[in-house]
Amino acid sequence: MISKPPGIEDVFPDTIARWNFVTDTAREVFRLFNIREIIIPVMEFTEVFARGIGDDTDIVSKEMFTFEDRGGRSLTLRPEGTASVVRAYVENGDYNRLSSCKLFYIGPMFRAERPQKGRLRQFNQFGAEIFGSTHPYADFEAIASMNLIAKKIGLSDYTLFINSIGCPACRPAFISDLTRYYESKKSHLCADCNRRLEKNPLRLLDCKVESCIALKHEAPVIAGYLCPSCAKHHDELKTLLGESAIFYTENPLLVRGLDYYTRTTFEFVSGSTGQNAFAAGGRYDNLVETFGGKPTPAVGFAAGIERILILLEKTNISPTPLDVYIVHSGNEAFTLAQKITMELRSNGISADLEAEAKGFKSQFKKADREHARLVIIIGEDELASRTLSIKNMLSGTQESVQIDDAVMHIKRVSELISGRQQGL
Ligand code: HAM
Repeated sequence: MISKPPGIEDVFPDTIARWNFVTDTAREVFRLFNIREIIIPVMEFTEVFARGIGDDTDIVSKEMFTFEDRGGRSLTLRPEGTASVVRAYVENGDYNRLSSCKLFYIGPMFRAERPQKGRLRQFNQFGAEIFGSTHPYADFEAIASMNLIAKKIGLSDYTLFINSIGCPACRPAFISDLTRYYESKKSHLCADCNRRLEKNPLRLLDCKVESCIALKHEAPVIAGYLCPSCAKHHDELKTLLGESAIFYTENPLLVRGLDYYTRTTFEFVSGSTGQNAFAAGGRYDNLVETFGGKPTPAVGFAAGIERILILLEKTNISPTPLDVYIVHSGNEAFTLAQKITMELRSNGISADLEAEAKGFKSQFKKADREHARLVIIIGEDELASRTLSIKNMLSGTQESVQIDDAVMHIKRVSELISGRQQGL
């Protein structure tokens, strides 16, 4: 047997109902916020991510799946969506000429991380990127859309953490004090943090090693260093969240693992994902320029679909049902069964059957496994009387219908059942 690589999962039909529930909800909320879909490539030139996310980040320095194409150019499977969306936005004049632009994407991302619960090498995100506004209302929309998705999915046990990591005007003073603080603690830092101290001191606040976590509590706090316009931006965002009753907790240590952020950073955290955040994002006002575009502020977020599915494991979401399963006794009954199956399908009713006639018992088992709402039975008796027996699998009732009226009858019953299930 050939198995799949570590950290890569198959998604079977049993999970698809939950999966589609999450992505359909996300799509619906994005529609409400007028955020439109973009489909970005699964691979890019490596430079897109190196330049976008930052050479010294964990993602770029140790987690990318990078390879050479036949022409010797370096390609990378996308580890996230933001850098690709920005590259596409800058490359496409029609979009970057618009004063503002709101885009969302759904798809797989790839990171060579150590696989564990909620941490995969191929995982799926939905995310949104809002271009063109410095106003905190754009940050609010990114947060509010994710919050509405979480609520509509039925998540309640989570915390929204927010922070501001300032801008190129005010952050250097903070970084310099942070560096001074950590220089004096160098011998207590893990090997990674000693490297971070040289290359990217902000990342020290993100370390998950026990001894480094302890040191964070005495470290300088960014809030005290924000310039007046960053502080005002942060205060206004908090007011907007408060006015919409979106509850948040300030976390001054929230610096995030990607280098492009300016000002707002945020994470939606729930203890039960196995990992912490199930969605995260922030503002990145300088990234479009880094990609050669005209200066364009932006803010966005991405959510991990597999992590959300872990949170939904205990919720009761019914799998997508099959409208009709046809149980038959073979030969002539099969000929009639397949004719009715195709007629039902042409009338918009999902229908299935097994070509090899097995016993009725095993066909009923299959109907159950397929979550069929109705079962049509065609046996010798039905053939003789030119009728079909129709069993309602939800109520257990059974009725007999003339073959010629069957399709219209089933259509009516099937619409009635699906309307009732959707609470219409
Ligand atoms: P991120 O925090 O790296 O941000 O990822 C966002 C979400 O993707 C995480 O909160 C988590 O739910 C999920 N995720 C990340 N890595 C894994 C993994 N190895 N296995 C399973 N799920 C994972 C970004 O990707 C940014 N592009 C977000 C953003 C958009 N910022 C601005 N715009």
